[in-house]
Amino acid sequence: MFESLLWLEEITSTQDFLKEKPLRIYSVVVANKQKKGRGRFGREWYSQEGGLYLSFSLPKNLRDETTLPLVLSNAVANYVRSLGFLPAIKWVNDVYIHGKKLCGILTERLKDKIVVGIGINLNQESFPEHLQAVSLKMVSGRHFDKVDFLIKLLDYVEESLRKLSEEGFLSFKDEIESRLLFKNSEVILYTPEPVVGILQGIDKDGSLLLLTQDGLKAFQIGEITLRAV
Ligand code: BTN
Repeated sequence: MFESLLWLEEITSTQDFLKEKPLRIYSVVVANKQKKGRGRFGREWYSQEGGLYLSFSLPKNLRDETTLPLVLSNAVANYVRSLGFLPAIKWVNDVYIHGKKLCGILTERLKDKIVVGIGINLNQESFPEHLQAVSLKMVSGRHFDKVDFLIKLLDYVEESLRKLSEEGFLSFKDEIESRLLFKNSEVILYTPEPVVGILQGIDKDGSLLLLTQDGLKAFQIGEITLRAV
């Protein structure tokens, strides 16, 4: 599926690079460091040496576009699981381990393509406390070869995208739901207005299902945090 791979030492952001350069669909861009890594909601993505930072483009006509971040988070989780870890998916686009963030996914829709960015914490030794982030090295003491990790990860991504286009999102729903962080806990969903509810799971279109004061509600956007007791 992936056609070409460009691996750079340091750039502003693999996401911006892929958005600005006229590279073909299914091109992959990787950087060892990013000067201005970006996350969702315009946030900074901490992009020091040791992490894996990649972006790739997909055709715009992809089926189930809205469920893409969940399917990709699940692909990352499957690969990380195969390495012996127990990842969780934080709706809608994060992978967590030991209650901390391991991976973030950004999907951006342009006129002619979708650009997907994945940041995975692999070999970093530490993070600023406020980020609540963790790397695979920090939880296992092991060092991960980035090239090897990337090639295998792209296999998992490719396999998931194939399944999404052939079988649809429903074929992922149970697995994703079984890995959902905060399931059955009281959370606050910022839509950006805060909505409090008990996280029940996901709907057949990937929406988040919350049991609120007004009954069961489905949400397509927002960010959840655990409600402090
Ligand atoms: C998030 O958690 O908000 C998403 C983070 C996405 C980070 C990746 S790192 C590779 C690509 N380049 C960027 O500037 N951002 C994405």
